[in-house]
This record gives sequence, structure tokens and C-alpha cells, in this order.
Amino acid sequence: MSFDRPAAVVVLAAGEGTRMKSAIPKVLHEIGGRSLVHHAVAAAGALDPEHLVVVVGHGRDEVAAHLADRAPKARCVVQDQQLGTGHAVSVALDELGSLDGTVVVTNGDVPLLSPQTLGDLLAAHAAQGNAVTVLTTELADPTSYGRVLREPDGSVARIVEQQDADADQLSVREVNSGCYAFRAQTLSRALARLRPDNSQGELYLTDVLGIARADGERVGAVLLADTWQVEGVNDRVQLAALQRELNRRICEWWMRAGTTIVDPASTWIDVDVTLEPDTLLEPNTLLRGTTTVRSGARVGPDCQLVDTDVGERALVTRATAYSSWIGPDSSVGPYAYLRPGTRLGRRGKIGTYVETKNADIGEGSKVPHLTYVGDATIGEETNIGAATVFVNYDGVVKHHTTIGRHARTGADNMFVAPVTVGDGAYTAAGSVIVDDVPPGAMAVARGKQRNIEGWVERRRAGTPAAEAAARARDRHEDADAATGDDQEGSGG
Ligand code: UD1
Ligand code: CA
Repeated sequence: MSFDRPAAVVVLAAGEGTRMKSAIPKVLHEIGGRSLVHHAVAAAGALDPEHLVVVVGHGRDEVAAHLADRAPKARCVVQDQQLGTGHAVSVALDELGSLDGTVVVTNGDVPLLSPQTLGDLLAAHAAQGNAVTVLTTELADPTSYGRVLREPDGSVARIVEQQDADADQLSVREVNSGCYAFRAQTLSRALARLRPDNSQGELYLTDVLGIARADGERVGAVLLADTWQVEGVNDRVQLAALQRELNRRICEWWMRAGTTIVDPASTWIDVDVTLEPDTLLEPNTLLRGTTTVRSGARVGPDCQLVDTDVGERALVTRATAYSSWIGPDSSVGPYAYLRPGTRLGRRGKIGTYVETKNADIGEGSKVPHLTYVGDATIGEETNIGAATVFVNYDGVVKHHTTIGRHARTGADNMFVAPVTVGDGAYTAAGSVIVDDVPPGAMAVARGKQRNIEGWVERRRAGTPAAEAAARARDRHEDADAATGDDQEGSGG
């Protein structure tokens, strides 16, 4: 298949999308981690057109800002009033000036249309020497689509819209996808002749086919078997259906590339995710944004990873992570929350009920249980005791904590930042560390324990605690009597 670089691709996206019942413009709703219009523009961009134009109208500022950020090569052209698809294309062509070659038109709300299909359309357009080639498909229920009317010889005569069709025409199941290739001159000449003489009072792009045909030009069609690719989004029910189908395709693609997906139905993978071969995804796993899972790693069940890099052979279970880097051979979870800027070194561990943020945890270091690590650097082979808090916030600004390599910090510590614990240092359980700890020192920062003997029996007399204490005292005295020990002053 071969085709010349198209002169332009025009993506129509000015419509309102009222059935979404949304304050957000329809084409900015997302599936697979990308807006609908970004999907359309990405497919268009794959053809490498000289001009890539998006016709915007409703929500134009938001759509234009979104595209400037995500697809800067796309140029937005404003269609002030939505006078019909033919008018929308005229607005785009007016902006571009005179063109030579092929103009492709697609819709901003049709996210599954593939670059391959667009390429096939262009190749057929060129091979058949057509002035217009329309992409069509056959639907069991063609309601609401324009119907493709063919001549007895099979060539395309014209397209009739649902609202303008008679009973015979309504029974046609071949529909217009809304995606076409046009010879540029044919298109601009025909657009100038469109009239809104139809039931909707609009300028129909579809009328270009009948006009070209009447002028004796060749009009052809490419019939696509894969109906999902031409399906548009008009409401949130269709949005969910296309999301599921896109995801099914993404999962299938990665399974064929070497990832085991235990339950594709509960595994959701965005289009920009990368999975290396021999990865395994357990059920209920969401991989979003630019997440990468490297060879031999296992993710899930119950994970949501956003823009996160999972290293080779790492194990990530019941975890949420944003913009984090999880080193090779490390383990995360169950029940871990990695916030942006978490970096877990090779063979490291972020365990259960642990939250981290802006934390660099060295190779072989472990943060196993019930801990918050915020704004910290932890050296290699260090162990952080259970139930530790890195106290990073003084109510106004965040401060940094540095823990050295081969350190052993006790359970239930508070590191009140800014503070540094040296290499090989220990801290005692229950310490509140406010001053730096030199390398190799043991820091003890807690009150000395004092036991007030008999306090419960005196001050809480009659309670179950006091009774239990009295029984324990009696047993102790009996045992002492049996071994012949003195009651007072034994043992020394
Ligand atoms: C259009 C086709 C129909 C086809 C269907 C496929 C026409 C007249 N009909 O119908 O044959 O089966 O698409 O989905 O073209 N838009 C603008 N400006 C406008 C009007 C529309 O930018 O003034 C955009 C919309 O945002 C949308 C696309 O064009 O992305 C299609 O418009 P829509 O109103 O949905 O056309 P349909 O009536 O569905
Ligand atoms: Ca439509």
C-alpha cells in the first residue's frame, strides 16, 4: 500500500456534545488516558500531513489549550457557528488557502480509528484514482448514521442523512463513517456549491459526494469490517463501551507482546504505558499515564500506578503510586502509597501501610511497616523501624531528613526535620530525634521509665485491673513461699 503525504487532515470537533451532560467539551473526555480529540489527532498525525487542522467551536479555548499542550503540531481553526460539517471543512480550507493533493477529513469524537485504516483509505483513494473516497462500514443498526447509496454497478452515488432518507434508504445498512479522502480542488469547488436545503438546514459535507459524482468524477468507498473504528462518542454510555473496547485491544496487544494478564476485564492500561516481555499483571490493576513495567516484574492485584517505572523483577501488590521509580528486585506493598518523587533502590522494600513522598530510599534499604517517609534521603542497606514518621512539615515549610547507610532506626521514631542520622547509627525505639546523630552513635531520645508499684490497687481499687493485679501478686507470693524464698529482700 502506498500513498502520498496528504496536503491536510481536517479533524472536526466544533460540535457541542449535549448528550454528555458535561461542563467539559465532549472531545476532552478521556479513554485510555487520552482525550477523544487527542486520539483523533494522533491517528491523523501518523499520516504526516502538511497541515493538521482541528476545527473547534464549543469549548474552543479549552480544546485549543489542551491541544497546544498535547499535540502542538495541530492547528486550531474556529468555526463560530456550527452550520454543518460542510461549513466546518470550508472554515478550515479558508484558513489554509489553496491546496494541492489530498485532504482527509475525520471526526474528533471517533477515538478508535487507526492510522492503519487511514493509510488504507489513502492508498485506495490513490490506487482507484478517486476524487472522493469515503470510509464506510455495515451496521446491524444503522440508525442516526448517513446511509451510503450505491449505483447498480456498485459505485457510490451519494450519501443520505437519516433525517432526509425515505424508507428504502433507511433500510441500507452501509453507513458513512464521517471519514473521507478528497482531491483538494474537487472538495473546495463542491463546498462552494453546498446549500442548506435539507431537513436540518445545514451545509452537509456528505453532499460533496453527490456533487462530485454529478460532475462526472470518481467517487469510491472503502468498506471497513471493524465497526468499532468508526464508532463515535455521543454520550457516556458510548464512552464506557469504547473505553472497554480500547482496553481490550491494548490488553490483547500486550499479551501478544509477552505480558501475562490474568484478568484482562479488570486490568486497565493507558495507551502510553510500556510493558516489557515476561511481566505479569494480576487482577484489578490500573496502569496509567507513562507507566513502564520492566521484565520479570509482577504488578497486582489491586494496584493503580500512574507515570511510574517498575524495575525488573520487582513485586508490587495492593499499591498506589504516582510519578515514582521502583527499583529492580524491590518489593512494594501490600497497602502502600507512593507519592510523586519516590525512588526505591534496587532490592529495597516499601512495605505495609507505608506512605512515601519525595523520598530517595537507597539500595537494599527497607521501610517495612506503618510509616510515613516525606522529603528524605535514606542511604543503602538501612532499616527504618516500624511506625516511624518523618516529620517534614513545620506548618509553614517542608524540611529534609537524611539517614545514612547501614543505619538501624528503632520502632516508633519521629525524625523532626531538618535532621541527619549518620552512617551505621542506631536510634532507640520511641525516640523523637531532633538533633543530628553522628555516624555509629546510638541515639536515645525518650523519657526514662518509672514504675509506681501498687498504683492500680491503691488508685483503681475494685476495677478488674486491680483484681487481676491482686491475683498476680498472690500467685507470685505463693510461688515464693513454695521455693522457701523470703518475701522481703530476696534475690538481691
Ligand atoms: C455525520 C455525517 C453522517 C455520518 C456521521 C458519522 C454529515 C452531514 N453527516 O453526521 O453521514 O454517518 O457523521 O458520525 O456530515 N461538526 C463541526 N461543525 C459543525 C457540525 C459538526 O465541527 O458545524 C463536527 C462535530 O463536532 C462532529 C462531526 O463534525 O465531530 C460530525 O458532526 P455530527 O453533527 O455528529 O454529524 P452527524 O449528524 O452525526
Ligand atoms: Ca455524530
